[in-house]
Amino acid sequence: METLVVIEEFSKKGRGAGSVGTGKVEVVGAIPGDHALVELSRKRKGWHVGFLRELTVRSELRVQPRCAHVPICGGCSWQEIDYKKQLQFKEAIVRNAFPSMHDRVRPIIACDDPWHYRNKMEFSFSQNKAGEKFLGLMLAQGRSRVFNLTECHLAASWFSDVLCSVRAWWKKSGLEAFRMNGEGALRTLILREGQRTKEKLVMLTVSGNPNYALTQRQIDDFIEAIETVVSGASIFLRIQQVAKGSATQFYEILLKGRDHIKEELVIDTGKNKRELTFKISPTSFFQPNPAQAEKLYSLALQMLDLPPKAVVFDLYAGTATLGMALALEAEKVVSIELNPHAVFDAEWGAKINGIHNLSLYIGDVGKVLHDLRALSDFRAPDVVIVDPPRAGLDPTALSHLLSLHPVQILYISCNVATQAQNIQVLQEGGYTLEIIQPVDQFPHTPHIENIGLLKRKLS
Ligand SMILES: C[S@@+](CC[C@H](N)C(=O)[O-])C[C@H]1O[C@@H](n2cnc3c(N)ncnc32)[C@H](O)[C@@H]1O
Repeated sequence: METLVVIEEFSKKGRGAGSVGTGKVEVVGAIPGDHALVELSRKRKGWHVGFLRELTVRSELRVQPRCAHVPICGGCSWQEIDYKKQLQFKEAIVRNAFPSMHDRVRPIIACDDPWHYRNKMEFSFSQNKAGEKFLGLMLAQGRSRVFNLTECHLAASWFSDVLCSVRAWWKKSGLEAFRMNGEGALRTLILREGQRTKEKLVMLTVSGNPNYALTQRQIDDFIEAIETVVSGASIFLRIQQVAKGSATQFYEILLKGRDHIKEELVIDTGKNKRELTFKISPTSFFQPNPAQAEKLYSLALQMLDLPPKAVVFDLYAGTATLGMALALEAEKVVSIELNPHAVFDAEWGAKINGIHNLSLYIGDVGKVLHDLRALSDFRAPDVVIVDPPRAGLDPTALSHLLSLHPVQILYISCNVATQAQNIQVLQEGGYTLEIIQPVDQFPHTPHIENIGLLKRKLS
């Protein structure tokens, strides 16, 4: 049965939200101002999820989308909202996450060009019971179903060209998509690029079950499918080994080209402007929107007030992009990162950029900090930067952060909800939240990148 819902606002997940009976509903693909006929799921914690069936009134905020896949694509659910309005909504979401700190929220930093900004996309292989093949992104309302993407305006056009060529290869290959029952071979296709260097990377992830291993002929044809549309790409095969009771293992095999790509970012610390070069291995994290990453890092550094001979900790460092930028100003930077490949990339980057005051550690932040603090020559940091994954800081990392007692903490996050929870703990532990600075890294999606600057209260 369908229910008419007037969409009044956005939910925390950036979906259109309205009231039904005694509860609330969030509707995928709806925006404030819409009147929507909606199929409701069961209520959980006061909220239904609603599946949009028809718009009886279209919101005045809706604009003509650029992409033919709107509204079925789950990739950019805000594309029908004018970009300036998207920015206002994001600022409001940040304000709501910090209800008593509105005066600290600075205007969001917009993208100069809100199109073709992504340097990485991950596409999925899927097929239905009739054997129809799909390679693309998830459907917005498809409960994990994939559609055949032919264009995407968030990334460079070669991404769609490769996707179409790989889809044609798949149809001829005799291979099947991996399915939840463990059958089939093909799982995902990851495409990445260095936007300044124009270097390209392609990685095909397949099942580790030997019954579904690709033949050399299938692999050679895959390489050919890539090379008919782009030249000089780094091409990888990744084997995903799943075994009951043990952690999933991944093995990357270089099929063709270099084992990495590079990217260049210009960082403006306020005192120094430098171009830094970074190496990116296929599994290393790198900020997905390099133009905004330059603004994010430069702003973050300009907000900090580094004392002379500062010791800075860069936690959840990835390829230590921030660590290297900080090393231009600090006496010593300590970067900690879980992914060894990202740390090896950082070692290469430090060398190529002539940075000698950066120490890199592989491991979990809480564990590495525990070990470092036991050393006799341990120097406590003046400033700590944290940039954790969406889950935020775990209790061990948070308690280290408080007991290290740095004068300033810069908290960068792609999830304002967990960031606000962690910052609340830091405020209760003696810090004042001085600045909240949203940066729009993800136009046409509800995702938000946000910086929080905390200073230790004078005792
Ligand atoms: C949002 S990225 C930030 C990377 C980096 N600061 C940058 O701007 O490129 C988060 C990073 O944290 C790493 N990570 C996740 N859990 C971790 C943990 N427990 N300890 C250390 N690093 C972790 C991930 O591998 C990823 O590189």
